[in-house]
Amino acid sequence: MIDHSKSLFNNGFTIIKSCIEKKLLKKIKLQINKKLIEISESKNNKKFFNLEGNFKKALTKKSQFDIQKILSKNLLDLNLIDQVFKSTKLLEELIQLLGPDLEYMLDYEMAINSKNTSSKDTYLIKKYHQEFWSGMGIESLQLWIPINLPKNTGTMEIIKNSDKWGHIPHRNREPVNLPKKYEKTELKIAEGSVAILSALTLHKTIKNNSNNIRIALPITVRNSYYPKTNNSDIFNFKKIKQSYFTKLRKVLGNSHYSPFRTSKDN
Ligand SMILES: [Fe+2]
Repeated sequence: MIDHSKSLFNNGFTIIKSCIEKKLLKKIKLQINKKLIEISESKNNKKFFNLEGNFKKALTKKSQFDIQKILSKNLLDLNLIDQVFKSTKLLEELIQLLGPDLEYMLDYEMAINSKNTSSKDTYLIKKYHQEFWSGMGIESLQLWIPINLPKNTGTMEIIKNSDKWGHIPHRNREPVNLPKKYEKTELKIAEGSVAILSALTLHKTIKNNSNNIRIALPITVRNSYYPKTNNSDIFNFKKIKQSYFTKLRKVLGNSHYSPFRTSKDN
């Protein structure tokens, strides 16, 4: 068994292999496909499963930014993100890493990458950056969940151990300077696995030059009790799991633990 806490500490990232069921991934892909057809207002009755084609058609109606927003919200509304966090192996590993009181950030945004995405678009093809720059607290972990990752669609490039450098000065969405020597690595991951990065790990998008689109979900996870740092107190989170302690607090109903509050004896 991999010690992900050690691996994350030693490298600034870790990968939990085969922790999401194929059935759930398929369900999410089908839903994305369905929503893309809806966005493209296609009058074609034959609604094929064709993520690339339907994404292209959707782009004739809305911007990629809007499409990503709509698709992300749709997966939340259908509780499909909740289902991702019900995956036994993923949940067990997250509990090992962060503890039993877990929550995920609702304000996430699906990342779609196609060969047509312009390299000049620094919002969609991100240069080296830390999630910390966008307000993420160091108490949180960033999950990168590939949903559609055919061969040669690329992943992301990571600078190993860059989390130990702290907050890197930056301007226009890229570091102002970097140490002379550093080790970069391309994330090797498959559908069904989940990559985990710290808020300070430098990473960048690898451009997808294949004919297929790449779809991934970058989602922030944290322990509800860890002190909130950076801007993380203003983001919206949803509970994934609660410990015995939290459940007891909820049952008791108040912080004074009033004795026999609900007793029918008096
Ligand atoms: Fe990022």
